[in-house]
Amino acid sequence: IKMIKKIACIGAGYVGGPTMSVIAQKNPHIQVTVVDMNEARIEAWNDDDLSKLPIYEPGLDAVVGEARGRNLFFSTDVDRAIDEADMIFISVNTPTKAYGKGKGQAADLKFIELCARQIAAVAKSDKIVVEKSTLPVRTAQALKSILDNTGNGVNFCILSNPEFLAEGTAINDLHHPDRVLIGGEDAAAIQALVDVYASWVPKERILTTNLWSSELSKLVANAFLAQRVSSINSISELCEVTGANVDEVAKAVGQDSRIGPKFLKASVGFGGSCFQKDILNLVYIARSYNLHTVADYWEQVIILNDHQKTRFAERIIRTMYNTVNGKHIAFLGWAFKKDTNDSRESAAIYVADHLLEEEAHIVVYDPKVPAEQIYRDLDALGTRSPADNRRLVSVASDPLSALNDAHAVAILTEWDEFKSYDWREIKQRMKRPAFVFDGRKLLGRAELEALGYQYYAIGE
Ligand code: NAD
Ligand code: UDX
Repeated sequence: IKMIKKIACIGAGYVGGPTMSVIAQKNPHIQVTVVDMNEARIEAWNDDDLSKLPIYEPGLDAVVGEARGRNLFFSTDVDRAIDEADMIFISVNTPTKAYGKGKGQAADLKFIELCARQIAAVAKSDKIVVEKSTLPVRTAQALKSILDNTGNGVNFCILSNPEFLAEGTAINDLHHPDRVLIGGEDAAAIQALVDVYASWVPKERILTTNLWSSELSKLVANAFLAQRVSSINSISELCEVTGANVDEVAKAVGQDSRIGPKFLKASVGFGGSCFQKDILNLVYIARSYNLHTVADYWEQVIILNDHQKTRFAERIIRTMYNTVNGKHIAFLGWAFKKDTNDSRESAAIYVADHLLEEEAHIVVYDPKVPAEQIYRDLDALGTRSPADNRRLVSVASDPLSALNDAHAVAILTEWDEFKSYDWREIKQRMKRPAFVFDGRKLLGRAELEALGYQYYAIGE
């Protein structure tokens, strides 16, 4: 296989956009075209105003600014990009199935299959097809079968190259990955992809494995990370009843070099588009091989996470004299973590849903998530009518108008700016007693109590 000159990527989302931008930035000799069927998204990627990119990710604007128009292009012309490319990344969404067999657990691969069929229909020359999306182990087999049976006598080589970036730190993660993982069977195809990454990633960080190990490793990495969060969150509840402090426990435990300090921050529960979806998928796969003990083991990570979100909402209700009906609760943060505009599976959605069942009045402020998205998230639950969501929830464009006359503040996302607010002034604007429910352990108990707040934080 010759050297790669043109890359196409199907899917201009949170993974395809940043990943291809960095590949283009670091490989000026390769033309990279990112395509998507979502016209509005592509238009936003092409906006002259780099603050209007469809994804908020620190440092992304600079990378796009450097490469776009030089060797990085965003387009809706999927067929043309496929036709011209030597290497095609598939980076489309693989959400949890919402219907049929495996509903609520299995990954929905319809978008992946559509990509494969489109590639097969359009390709007139040999292609390396790279799985960038997170996929169930053995998906490459299905892809290969579709490509080989509907193609035009073209040779397709499939590689697995899962992405490990985290949102909010995507550019740094892409520039300095712990590892790049490439699974495949064809040595020349593997080498072609190794060469793309070797433009900036040290050789010893590029791991090559067989296809199935690569596909499975991605699910396992996310399962292990989420498991650490559920582990510390389970201990947070024990801390609350015993007088231990979960941050102190996490520090003492994490200082053991065998355990390590990262990913031990207790919280209102993990969110994001990946952890829950990928663990559910792992559970589904294990069950499909009749490995029920394995499946049950990993399922507990999700059960504990759901419990953590519920118990945070219940704690708010209990502390506020067992009723939040008509009370104004200010939500600081809606995104699933700081430094992203992504709210998929955010804990805030589920905490809000619980409080809305009790007829609370919620006013949300998030620095990056727009009001339409907040309402879309609530409407998608189907718990109540869109009209009721709009009656009970309002969205503020600045923090003070969310906090004025609030009975309570709930911190759902760890945005840095929340720490720098004038909490003395905020208290003047709130009803008394002024409650703060800190789902991120962002503010300090000593300071808040000195100001006269009733302060509750996870794991204290
Ligand atoms: P996303 O929803 O942000 O982006 C996917 C894009 O693909 C959408 O814009 C959609 O319009 C487009 N698309 C779907 N089918 C298409 C088709 N047939 N033709 C053209 N475009 C199509 O999703 P994402 O967050 O970028 O995730 C993509 C994959 O990467 C998923 O499998 C996910 O599990 C995985 N992943 C995500 C993250 C993350 O942090 N978000 C990290 C690692 C891996
Ligand atoms: C995750 C993986 O980290 C990444 O490698 C993979 O490619 C995609 O999935 P992401 O979901 O973007 O990335 O963010 P991450 O930083 O992992 O956080 C996920 C959730 O866990 C967030 O809601 C975060 O607030 C929460 N979390 C994380 C905790 O509550 N405590 C922690 O210590 C760490």
